[in-house]
Amino acid sequence: MNILIITGGSKGIGKALAEKYTSEKYHVFSIARSLSNSEKFTEIKADLSAIKEVPKALKSIFNQIDKERISSITLLNNAGRLGEISTLENLDPEDIAKSIQLNTTTPLVLSNLFIKETQNWNCKKQIINISSGAATKPYEGWSVYCTSKAALDMTTKAIAAEQSEIENGVKCVAIYPGVVDTNMQNQIRKTNKADFKNVQRFKDLKENNELYSSEFVAEKIYSIDIENQLQSGDIIDIRNF
Ligand SMILES: NC(=O)c1ccc[n+]([C@@H]2O[C@H](COP(=O)([O-])OP(=O)(O)OC[C@H]3O[C@@H](n4cnc5c(N)ncnc54)[C@H](OP(=O)(O)O)[C@@H]3O)[C@@H](O)[C@H]2O)c1
Repeated sequence: MNILIITGGSKGIGKALAEKYTSEKYHVFSIARSLSNSEKFTEIKADLSAIKEVPKALKSIFNQIDKERISSITLLNNAGRLGEISTLENLDPEDIAKSIQLNTTTPLVLSNLFIKETQNWNCKKQIINISSGAATKPYEGWSVYCTSKAALDMTTKAIAAEQSEIENGVKCVAIYPGVVDTNMQNQIRKTNKADFKNVQRFKDLKENNELYSSEFVAEKIYSIDIENQLQSGDIIDIRNF
């Protein structure tokens, strides 16, 4: 049996990924605040921006897994938020903390538990982080988001380095999904130019039908994964694949 544990499988890219892996006979567990209504995979309700809920949600999944029957297990850290969009001095401290928690701390904590729980398992083990081009490009108005994704990239590299010395260690990669037609893009297009200088570029991408669909991105990530196209520590942009 192949297992996928995904955060944010209720909407957008995460939902398309959960459905794609389910259709390929993976047993998929999703953690999000709301349900997808797809009824095809197992859904756990939790707010991953609340630190106490994070280990609880993952432990409840491990309690449902029979480790003797597993050939592969993947943790896919996908849930994310942009948070308020404006230059840093205009942001609410609570909102800053919430974004860093969800986009950076939660993947660290889930990875910590995932590595610990699967330490003596003989199956294939990997972590896939959904990062963003914003990890390397400083967009004005997205300081917190850019910071959180740059940190997620470093998490990826640090885990890969730590696990490389271990027999059957956990593989860890990060993927930038491109610009994808989800709620996150709706939020971006609604921003005032005063808060986000680049807003017109994102409106144009939508207008010109240049956004990827979540389904396209899910197909692409699935094939990169099962064709084993990445080495541990790789950070790639699907636009280059
Ligand atoms: N869309 C893009 O153009 C784009 C580009 C680059 C990178 N990304 C990255 O891709 C990933 C998915 O984004 P998306 O575009 O699919 O966004 P989305 O449509 O807004 O979906 C976000 C997902 O994260 C979950 N989530 C949000 N807050 C949560 C919380 N507090 N606790 C648990 N789950 C939470 C949501 O579920 P609930 O609301 O049910 O909790 C939802 O399933 C993110 O990491 C994002 O940074 C997106």
